[in-house]
Amino acid sequence: MSNTFIVSNRLPVRLDDAGKPVRTTGGLASALAGSGIEATWVGWPGIASEQMENEAQLVATLKESGIVPVILGEEIIDGYYHGYANSTVWPLLHYMIERARFEPEWFPFYEKANRAFAEAILDVVEDSDTVWIHDYHLFLLPRMLRESGKKLRIAFFLHTPFPSSEIFRALSERRKILEGLLGADLIGFHTYNYLRHFRSAVLRVLGVESNVGSVQQEQREVSLGVYPIGHDHRGFSKAMQTAEYQDALNRHAAELAEKKLFISVERLDYTKGIPQKLDAIRLFLKENEAERAKIVFVIIAVPSRGDVDEYVQLTEEVQREVGAINGKYGTVGHAPVQFLHRSFPQPELAALYALADACLVTPLIDGMNLVAKEYIDCKNESTGGRPGVLILSEFAGAAQELSHAIMVNPYDVTETARAITQALTMSDNDKQKRTLAMQDRLRRSDSSAWATTILNEVKAIPLTVREVNATTQFPMITGRVVKAVQEGGRASLFLDYDGTLRDFVSKPEDAVPDPELLPLFDRLCAIPGLDVAVVSGRPLEFLDQHFPNPALTLVAEHGYRWRRPDTDGWELVHEHIDTDWIDVVMPLLEQAVDLTPGSHLEEKQSSIVWHYRQTDPEFGLWRAHGLLAELTDVTASLPVAVHHGKKIVEVASQLVNKGQAVKALISDWHPNIAIVAGDDQTDETMFALELGNELDFVSVKVGDEGATRAKRRTDIRGLRNFLVQLSEELGTDPALKR
Ligand code: UDP
Ligand code: G6P
Repeated sequence: MSNTFIVSNRLPVRLDDAGKPVRTTGGLASALAGSGIEATWVGWPGIASEQMENEAQLVATLKESGIVPVILGEEIIDGYYHGYANSTVWPLLHYMIERARFEPEWFPFYEKANRAFAEAILDVVEDSDTVWIHDYHLFLLPRMLRESGKKLRIAFFLHTPFPSSEIFRALSERRKILEGLLGADLIGFHTYNYLRHFRSAVLRVLGVESNVGSVQQEQREVSLGVYPIGHDHRGFSKAMQTAEYQDALNRHAAELAEKKLFISVERLDYTKGIPQKLDAIRLFLKENEAERAKIVFVIIAVPSRGDVDEYVQLTEEVQREVGAINGKYGTVGHAPVQFLHRSFPQPELAALYALADACLVTPLIDGMNLVAKEYIDCKNESTGGRPGVLILSEFAGAAQELSHAIMVNPYDVTETARAITQALTMSDNDKQKRTLAMQDRLRRSDSSAWATTILNEVKAIPLTVREVNATTQFPMITGRVVKAVQEGGRASLFLDYDGTLRDFVSKPEDAVPDPELLPLFDRLCAIPGLDVAVVSGRPLEFLDQHFPNPALTLVAEHGYRWRRPDTDGWELVHEHIDTDWIDVVMPLLEQAVDLTPGSHLEEKQSSIVWHYRQTDPEFGLWRAHGLLAELTDVTASLPVAVHHGKKIVEVASQLVNKGQAVKALISDWHPNIAIVAGDDQTDETMFALELGNELDFVSVKVGDEGATRAKRRTDIRGLRNFLVQLSEELGTDPALKR
């Protein structure tokens, strides 16, 4: 049976100074703790190893409750948790770039901590287990696990927003982070907006295109999904059945007497907009003198990340502001704002939610915000709940689901102050209607439903997908080539260059053959009975310079010229080619260059290519579609073919294409087996050749993208392995050295 592991930096419990487990605060911990998922939890116990009095005892205690602790020392915690995760990444994910600190020495600790998590997980998992990783502390972990070679299903969920790629790109380690994440099988976000920004970062940082629901990675697909997290409905329902809840309800009701209670509950974090909320309260109190003694604002701000400077400063700022408001608007026996700087157990929170006439949830930005959902859920007449209304920031992820709240822009202090007045004067009937409209949905899509959906989706991903390796598709073909040659027949290889024999780079001139390729070609060309041709779109000068072996056939410019072993220098494949059309299409192509920064033209003898690899990827693609439409119109009666290849648009003479050149070579060489391999649209003319039944014709598309007429697919590595294998099997056969 396969097991499930939940992995997060923050565990649902931490050990207090006396080494006793206490509940932790935060949406991640509370949602997962209430999800009811049967899983082993892997995470950091909240204190540094140096401060543990008895590490062995602690590990044993946690293990008894199904938790595998990841033990980290002070230095790592400082660089990883206080530093990179909470002082660099957290503010950036929340668009607060001015609060982000960029200290180069932090990232190595972040890597070390992720590695420590990986090791702890790999110690306990087995093939076919599911590992579900949470949040921005562990961006590198999916890839580390993937690279371990264990056959795991890996899900990742981000509990924060994912910002616009313009912001994300400020991180120096942006590539490593995205590559780390793409090690997962499934990546989940709270909202579609966060998913959209993630795709844009993957495109702009890694140059990888994606669909709304997936990113293709070599032989693997990474699913992307939107899963708005739910609150711990079961936990709150149970809490409301306890004596502790009833007691708190009665106590607070008596304390409040006739006063109205406006509550807010959050970690003391600068994303939560507490100073702006206090500004709104101050404005409300200023403008509503008659209400001052009748209303109390209870602000529960749970201490959070106290070792990070920004949080220390915020705490001081909030305390100062609360003091100033009470100093100005308080009376003997009544402070309008009560600031409670500690955390509360679930039954006590539930009682405050149940009683409060309004809940002020006004973050400047928030991945989701569970307090908003919990407040609505606890409005239950049968358990003593009073009618109340939610005031909600439009910048919380929860705003998309809670449309019956009073929606505010938290930066607009006047609007929030007005919302307080609206809440104060709203009828009970109106409050109840709004609550009921949201309650049903919230209860159904609680944290348990959320976790179940994600786990079911990742568990449905077949493990076998990852076992398909391109190289495994070749032994049979190798065998056919070897057999043909050993039996005295001939074999031909027709290989495209860019994207087939080597990867793309942004400047075409940098894509020179790697050091292994030329000796490999030398070995292949030395095999009698085997003819090898590189069939490329490149100009002859490039091919001449980089492929000096005269035994290798070179086809340049998509089949315009060739250099054959038995002839002297370069020749035209076809003697008479009409190129008058160039004058007609040139203005359109030049206009495309002018209108698209980063694009350029390459002029060849029989074709012109517009390159847009170095443009903004979305803009470049959009322009390419426009250009294609114009070219199709203009060239309708001209003897040219228009191709849309990888980041290029090419206009070429119709007679000139790779297929025609390959066909001519095949009729010269008379092979028994011919293999053509290529990666883009211009190679389709080779794949589409119809050469009769005599010939064993094998067409191979390199890469996963797009439809193809080729009969097989592989990747660059798979093709290279095939060529190496061929050179080893045929090159070492003494019988063939004839
Ligand atoms: N919470 C708690 N005790 C408190 C205050 C808050 O357990 O004294 C819980 C609250 O019930 C909620 C979570 O902390 O589930 C806060 O989650 P939210 O999504 O609102 O914000 P986050 O802290 O994750 O940014
Ligand atoms: C947010 C983060 C969680 C984190 C929580 C509490 O909800 O998304 O990952 O656990 O805040 O913060 P802490 O630093 O105490 O874990």
